[in-house]
Amino acid sequence: MDVILGIDIGGSTTKIVGFTAKNNMLGSLQVKATDQVTSMYGAVGNFLRTYSIPLRNVSKIVLTGVGASYITGSVYEVPTVKIDEFRAIGLGGCTLSALERALVVSMGTGTAFVRVSDGDVIHIGGSGVGGGTLMGLSSELMHENDISNVALLAESGDLANVDLLIKDISNVQIPNLPPNATASNFGNIKNTATNSDKALGLINMVFQAIGTMSFLACYNTPIKDIVLTGALTVLPQARDVFDGLSKLYRLNFIIPPLSIYATAIGAAVSFLES
Ligand SMILES: Nc1ncnc2c1ncn2[C@@H]1O[C@H](COP(=O)(O)OP(=O)(O)OP(=O)(O)O)[C@@H](O)[C@H]1O
Ligand SMILES: [Mg+2]
Repeated sequence: MDVILGIDIGGSTTKIVGFTAKNNMLGSLQVKATDQVTSMYGAVGNFLRTYSIPLRNVSKIVLTGVGASYITGSVYEVPTVKIDEFRAIGLGGCTLSALERALVVSMGTGTAFVRVSDGDVIHIGGSGVGGGTLMGLSSELMHENDISNVALLAESGDLANVDLLIKDISNVQIPNLPPNATASNFGNIKNTATNSDKALGLINMVFQAIGTMSFLACYNTPIKDIVLTGALTVLPQARDVFDGLSKLYRLNFIIPPLSIYATAIGAAVSFLES
């Protein structure tokens, strides 16, 4: 059996997926190490062991992600190629959502916006507001480095203790702006705000910023589907915030299954399609 490995060496973690030559997915996992080379080799070893695949069965390795630049030559003497990360994001997001036209947003350490339309995959821009922002500000504001704990804290948070809402600053109805829309993230922080309030405020701020940039990236285009990928998509708050933004902007924010692995899947799919 020929196995194709797609490996996404990101700014924080390495994601790996395996496919058969017939496009069947064999499995996925992610690893984290202090440097990208260790992370990539660790991911391959861990994957082959976890899924009981002998190295001799691996016929191709497709690398992508910012860390791919640190890997030169072939990996374990398996034919190895690199694919542009933005192409992998676009292909992976569209494969997982079964869409041919969409804005695919990678919410990782930073955020990337990729427009896929009529077979074209275009990186239209990026933002430094992403998972790294959430980690850094959580550490400063709540002395919490573990994102799972930040998400737990946020469950009992109240945005009213943190954010300024439109209804706080206007007593008339503004067209296209519901009274509960955010006027300013952290613009009304109370001195009684708890760590839970701050955690929810931070998660909400990062997701709202990404959602609003996505809306602007789709403005005046036929694109109505926004596919969200990357590790931030698995935070429980993602669904709530993006459902709210779907209604506000009349767009479909979609979190597909395996969203964490979209870029790695895009890397493997680019080879399988070719
Ligand atoms: N358990 C977790 N659940 C959800 N999000 C997490 C968890 N642990 C870390 N994160 C967040 O995920 C972010 C990293 O996301 P991801 O792994 O998709 O990025 P990356 O691919 O390494 O980076 P980039 O794509 O920007 O190069 C971290 O900055 C952190 O905010
Ligand atoms: Mg990434």
